[in-house]
Amino acid sequence: MVLSRTARIICPSFWKGFKSSKSHLPFITAGNGEHKALTTSSNLWYPRGVRPKVQRSKQSGYVEQVQSWNFSEEEEKGEAAKTEEETELHKPVMLEEIMSIFQPSDNQVFLDMTFGAGGHTKAILQSNSLTKVYALDRDPVAHRLASKLADKYKSRVFPLLGRFTDLDKLLKDAAVQHQSFDGVLIDAGCSSMQFDNPERGFALSEDGPLDMRMDGSRVPSTPSAADVVNNLDAQTLARIIRTYGEERLAKKIAAMIVDYREKHKPIETTAELATVISFAFTHRAAADSKDSLGRKLHVATRTFQALRIFVNDELNELHHALHTIKPYLKKGGKLAVLTFHSLEDRIVKRFLQGKNVNEKGKSLHERKRSHDWTTDEEELKSPDWQIVNKKVLCASEFEVSQNPRSRSAKLRAAFKL
Ligand SMILES: C[S@@+](CC[C@H](N)C(=O)[O-])C[C@H]1O[C@@H](n2cnc3c(N)ncnc32)[C@H](O)[C@@H]1O
Repeated sequence: MVLSRTARIICPSFWKGFKSSKSHLPFITAGNGEHKALTTSSNLWYPRGVRPKVQRSKQSGYVEQVQSWNFSEEEEKGEAAKTEEETELHKPVMLEEIMSIFQPSDNQVFLDMTFGAGGHTKAILQSNSLTKVYALDRDPVAHRLASKLADKYKSRVFPLLGRFTDLDKLLKDAAVQHQSFDGVLIDAGCSSMQFDNPERGFALSEDGPLDMRMDGSRVPSTPSAADVVNNLDAQTLARIIRTYGEERLAKKIAAMIVDYREKHKPIETTAELATVISFAFTHRAAADSKDSLGRKLHVATRTFQALRIFVNDELNELHHALHTIKPYLKKGGKLAVLTFHSLEDRIVKRFLQGKNVNEKGKSLHERKRSHDWTTDEEELKSPDWQIVNKKVLCASEFEVSQNPRSRSAKLRAAFKL
């Protein structure tokens, strides 16, 4: 299976790299010239010693974290008009497969942990008029859409604003008890609304401020992609780019970034970063840069992906989400998780197997060599979950042709025992 082969290639060096070593913690210089060590709250999913929990750099200064979010009247009008258009741009991925797993019936309650443009939530609401959906998103723009949907579907949609790591508190505040949900969906990563808006700083296609935070406006104290590329040392940047972007030229790209910012100026926009990254590629390497569909891929795509995952702490968030949600699912309740990166899929697979995510898995070949005759099916047995699809599900050829974003989607689903 392609997936496990990919995981095996990445993981040996990956796991070594993730061992904790506080002596390697890099420093970041704050606005007042003070040096701050990057703090580590968990070593799980980070290249050694690297954590995104840094104070903002001299570009952005220190800003207090805000808990709630309110649009001004003017912003509200603008955002509403914009988001109406933007929802059209995000096509829900593997919708049919997910709906055939959930099969919503009367009075069932669902949790959509990644509301986005609400594509999956709407399908649940429309499939049965007696269903209810709790809709979480960390992005205030998505939350705003969920609130609008709540107005339309009275008493059936409950918007929640926050991250996976806030979910437990949010559910407790909403008086949601354990064993409440019949189905929980995670559709990891970013929405097209985020990717395609140059002001959010995710996009390669159009220039914009180098931000990439899904909730930077709500939690401005978290570092943006500009903070990361302008402050971390070359070795740390290379680890991030290699691990999260699976980029072969990570070291060279990191060196180019550091060289540029030292000789010229801090990198401030997406186009500026893309240009600096392209210096690391020969004409030939650039011409060979293709995605899994064989389409031309911008040479900066993998580095952008790595920075996005790092800035939003995506792997730790996913790991946290899975553990948080388990007690909130009813017995027999269904969990469906869509991921777009091999490391994310690995977290989900390990979680469903009831294994420690840090444990190195054995390939079938390795199992046979060590006279471990466990079959692939037995490997997937778990004391807590009945796994729906033994093999990871991928989007159909037709869906990929309609929505190229679905090409790297991997769907895993399970019933809670
Ligand atoms: C791929 S989109 C979901 C799209 C949605 N299923 C749809 O069909 O419209 C992922 C969404 O999850 C949100 N998200 C990602 N990580 C999150 C986290 N840790 N906590 C809460 N929301 C998160 C993003 O802001 C984004 O809106």
